[in-house]
Amino acid sequence: MGRRLELIAVPDLSLDQKVVVLSGRSFQETAGLETFGIGSLKVIDGPFGARGADYSLSSPAAHFPCGPALGATFDPALLREVGAAIGAEIRLKGGDVLAGPNLNLHRTPLAGRNFECYSEDPYLTARIGVAYIQGAQSVGVAACAKHFVANDAEYRRHSVSCKVSERALRELYLVPFEAAVIEGGVWSIMAAYNGINGTLCSEHHELLTTILRDEWGFDGWCVSDWYGVQSTVASANAGVDSEMPGPVHWGAKLADAVVAGDVDEKVIDAKVENTIRIGVRVGRTDPSGAPVSSEHPAETPSDPDVFRDVARRAAAAAIVLLKNDGDLLPLRDDLARLAVIGPNANVARTQGSGSAHVRRHHCVTPLDAIRAALPSCDVTFERGRDNERETPIVEADVTIEFFAEDSHEVLAVEHVEEAHVVWNGQTPGGLTGQPFRARLSWSFTADRAGAYTFSLGTAGEATLKVDGSVVVTSTSTLAPDQSLFARDREQFTGTVELAAGAQHEVVVDYVSGRHRNLRSVIAGMRPPEDPGAFDRAVAAAAGADAAVVVVGTNMDWETEGFDRESFDLPGRQAELVRAVAAVNPRTVAVVVAGTAVDCEWSTDTPAALYAWFGGQEAGPALADVLFGRAEPAGRLPITIPRAIADAPSSPWWPPTGDTIEYGEDLLVGYRGHDASGVAPRFAFGHGGSYTTFAWGEPRRSGAAVEVDVTNTGTRHGSEVVLLFAGRSGDDATLPPKELKGFAKLDLAPGERATARLPVDARTFAHWDHDTRAWVETQGPQFVLLAASATDLRARLSID
Ligand code: BGC
Repeated sequence: MGRRLELIAVPDLSLDQKVVVLSGRSFQETAGLETFGIGSLKVIDGPFGARGADYSLSSPAAHFPCGPALGATFDPALLREVGAAIGAEIRLKGGDVLAGPNLNLHRTPLAGRNFECYSEDPYLTARIGVAYIQGAQSVGVAACAKHFVANDAEYRRHSVSCKVSERALRELYLVPFEAAVIEGGVWSIMAAYNGINGTLCSEHHELLTTILRDEWGFDGWCVSDWYGVQSTVASANAGVDSEMPGPVHWGAKLADAVVAGDVDEKVIDAKVENTIRIGVRVGRTDPSGAPVSSEHPAETPSDPDVFRDVARRAAAAAIVLLKNDGDLLPLRDDLARLAVIGPNANVARTQGSGSAHVRRHHCVTPLDAIRAALPSCDVTFERGRDNERETPIVEADVTIEFFAEDSHEVLAVEHVEEAHVVWNGQTPGGLTGQPFRARLSWSFTADRAGAYTFSLGTAGEATLKVDGSVVVTSTSTLAPDQSLFARDREQFTGTVELAAGAQHEVVVDYVSGRHRNLRSVIAGMRPPEDPGAFDRAVAAAAGADAAVVVVGTNMDWETEGFDRESFDLPGRQAELVRAVAAVNPRTVAVVVAGTAVDCEWSTDTPAALYAWFGGQEAGPALADVLFGRAEPAGRLPITIPRAIADAPSSPWWPPTGDTIEYGEDLLVGYRGHDASGVAPRFAFGHGGSYTTFAWGEPRRSGAAVEVDVTNTGTRHGSEVVLLFAGRSGDDATLPPKELKGFAKLDLAPGERATARLPVDARTFAHWDHDTRAWVETQGPQFVLLAASATDLRARLSID
């Protein structure tokens, strides 16, 4: 037995054994050395549900609202519950590490993974992220804060370098990670794909060792993003502990680098030690070095009802009341006729796409939830406009049969709810690691006569037949590592004329071919155009007592792998909202999206809600808020600008070449709007209520500022008090104010409570390059108490 560290025994291992435990044995599992007590770690993606090891075929999981929705709750206590729920489901799936939270920031409204990230503000992100981490780790699962750092866009994500100042890194992008380590005690960190100022994060010694370990005292496990290690020596010396899935650049190559003297064996020992430490914390590795099992517990489907309540509370608490002229909301629930309109009303758009995608237990569309909430109302539906980016993914009962490459014997059969299947290493039928063939089949009824468009996007090759005739053939030219989320880059389409009313059989024959690690097939179908849809929607609205128009994006727009090109509400949905509002003065617009979209139409509609991608309970939660059974308790965690050009990062977006320039420096989001004076459409922190509140005079109380808030209305409601540190002086490069505290108060009618907002050493601190430390900013100090970044209620000097 070797050295002892804390309570951890680090066994005497040969160099070859040591490098084994520093890479994967499968896509989601690290390799263990079980006879030495070192267990394999199973990493499962979140962050909004325990996906399971397999991207597509894992059993369903409880599915929570997207990142900015959770940010909008401004409710760390609720986030602790969400983190604990997801942690518990990670355990059911035999997992040890939850790949989340995503602590990157909304720098541009157009970033593809904004739907995973909580906010544009580092303080809010830190508070929400710390609570989520503490919740997950309270059930013995390691949270993995990702992606360290500045992975704020998908543009050339494996190679791009972010050009960002030290001060912006320290005061914005690193802040949530610093809190995750120091306050959240996070057990794991994922190094980002991108580089910072010319050095890949996975090779960034200052980031992974000087800052993370030496300065912040991180003693956990630093894992690469998947295929994010691009070197042997540089990544090993910088501070990555494990190459996942790997080994590609590590394994025997790492052992050779040690023998060649390019990597000190002590560096390897430290990685082994970190891996053992986290293994002990999650209960996979035996602290005394006694042998452990090499198997992970089987993935157990979770009970669909256990976390329903917390998912529903979170979805409702996230909904933001953008406007409510004439107190149109909540709608009366004795309406005789209600028109529900829009492309996001009769489908459950509950999440973005990519590694964060989970197979949900169930979901209820907004339309069905509204119908269930108003059983005696005549609820009509018209789609009005389409909002698809791609040919819509087929949602059907899809059967998948698996075959070896050169045989017709069915080796396994699976069933999925959509024709979007990704195989990340595990293949049913004993086919893991081998080329294979799969046959997907389903049937559908043609509702309308006309040209039906079918599409295929594949990592591999496929042919799609309708009733036995070939309609589309797909031959991917993408490199295997490009192809996982590459639906936008290569889509093959074909059309077939169909008569109305008949049932048709679709078969997709897929061959994985040269694609080894990530194989996928995505099939879509677009029915013929419905030319009368817009006019029917307007007519339905005109004839109803009220109209609810549900618009937004979907996971083809918001996904890992690429960024959005436009801020517009896609598919001319803005016209739809306007036309409906023009014929029905009781129109409520609802945005279902994972980040900011253009809300210019909101000037013409009396009421609007931002309901996000709200997870499995999004539909019922929206109905609760529409009819006043729950309050719209969310506040915007992002700024919604009037136009994309007003977003402070826009002069530097989209990027060109291999660099993303963070030219706005410290002036991200509301900080930039404050500095330029350009008014946003809806400010950071904005959100109305069904009740009213009165704020008292703020006062100092010890190391805090306090303000009394009274619910002066007749309904229960919650108010969020924001505390910004103000900055005087005329340096236009510095933010005029920055969020440094918030409190959410839940108040019954007539109830009064005190919001207490601590003021501490960091409230007025800035990062000092020379001393490499946070130092107190000199000059007169004051805080602003506010309901949003543009709704300032009080200014208080702090001596
Ligand atoms: C993503 C990570 C994720 C990993 C494993 C990568 O593509 O960037 O966030 O955890 O895949 O699925």
